[in-house]
Amino acid sequence: MFVGAIILGCQKENTEEVLDPYVLRRPDYFPEITYPISGNQISKSGFELGKKLFNDPILSLDNSIACSNCHVKAVAFTDPQHNPSVGIFEREGSRNSPMIANMAFQPEFLWDGGITHLDFVPIFAIENEKEMAETAESVVRKLNASPIYPTLFKKTFPSLDTITAPYMLKALSQYMLLLVSDQSKYDQFLRGEANLSSEETAGLTLFKAKCASCHSGALFTNYAFLDNGLDVTHKDIGRALISARAEDTGKFKVPSLRNILLTAPYMHDGRFKTINEAIDHYRFHVKDTPNLDTRLKTNGKPGISLTDEEVENLVSFLKTLTDYKFISNPIF
Ligand code: HEC
Ligand code: HEC
Repeated sequence: MFVGAIILGCQKENTEEVLDPYVLRRPDYFPEITYPISGNQISKSGFELGKKLFNDPILSLDNSIACSNCHVKAVAFTDPQHNPSVGIFEREGSRNSPMIANMAFQPEFLWDGGITHLDFVPIFAIENEKEMAETAESVVRKLNASPIYPTLFKKTFPSLDTITAPYMLKALSQYMLLLVSDQSKYDQFLRGEANLSSEETAGLTLFKAKCASCHSGALFTNYAFLDNGLDVTHKDIGRALISARAEDTGKFKVPSLRNILLTAPYMHDGRFKTINEAIDHYRFHVKDTPNLDTRLKTNGKPGISLTDEEVENLVSFLKTLTDYKFISNPIF
């Protein structure tokens, strides 16, 4: 509430023209849009339909779980409660729920990159028996029988006579595509609208030297699949699941670090509860695994050296990536 009040206060003073919130915009320092937007033009009604579907448990087998159960807006659409994310019938999934923000710019989805088109990700959740345990056919049947959805689909996609799975997926994508997080203090700094404190600046310098080779660019990821030394033996083999190559065992997508102070727990299986535990992994616990990325070795030894004071500065910098306007945006 407090945050929202501040934002309202700012908007009053701000004389900038109000931009149409239903248009996908790429800040000029972001990577290119990867989503083929020409095949799914975003509209206000499509966005609102996608948002309604995202928050509706009708997409799950027993109408108990919505996308928003595991992707909670207040924490940048991650899952703060469960470790790992718990789905239908309290079945525990093996993986931690990633942030849904800036999906329009991401080339591959899931921790192992198993899906390359945003439209197909919800099918994975709906049909995953540890998540929503439904089938696309059954969801489509429920939507067609509902008193509200046929009208909403017709409004967004006028040529549709019955609701079909591809259009349900297009609507979900319209919603997720507009979830762009580009209003953090760091963004204001990049646009020359704010200064960083001396701690934050020191943290940024350390980040560039020690982390940005993988967590690179405006979204803080190079989107590569890498082994950051968490385990020697693997319950979840990661990228090798989809590539069937031994050298991909234990490799996971480098995650974006935007909103990182909101998105605990950390790593693909949510093993670290705090940012300090995640950073201490890099300082003290990197294992010399067969596929360990060489950037995580210093003079042949695994790990990144950081003093306690450096960690404090690094955390100060990471805090500038929190986008309070994103999580309090009333249209999301
Ligand atoms: C039970 C919890 C749960 C539910 C319900 C759920 N998700 Fe997820 N979501 C996850 C997990 C866990 C992953 C990561 C899975 C993986 O990497 O294999 C994920 C991944 C994603 C991703 C990919 C993000 C990225 O950066 O790669 C998107 C997009 C997404 N979910 C959207 C949705 C939508 C839309 C729905 C509703 C149809 C939904 N999710 C329902 C837990 C859930
Ligand atoms: C060699 C590439 C590489 C370097 C260098 C690197 N990381 Fe990572 N980072 C990864 C990968 C890969 C993951 C995901 C690993 C997994 O979940 O299995 C990750 C995950 C994380 C996460 C968890 C994010 C989440 O959403 O769960 C944090 C936090 C993090 N890194 C911070 C840092 C910091 C801070 C540094 C610098 C001190 C750093 N990383 C250096 C590759 C790297």
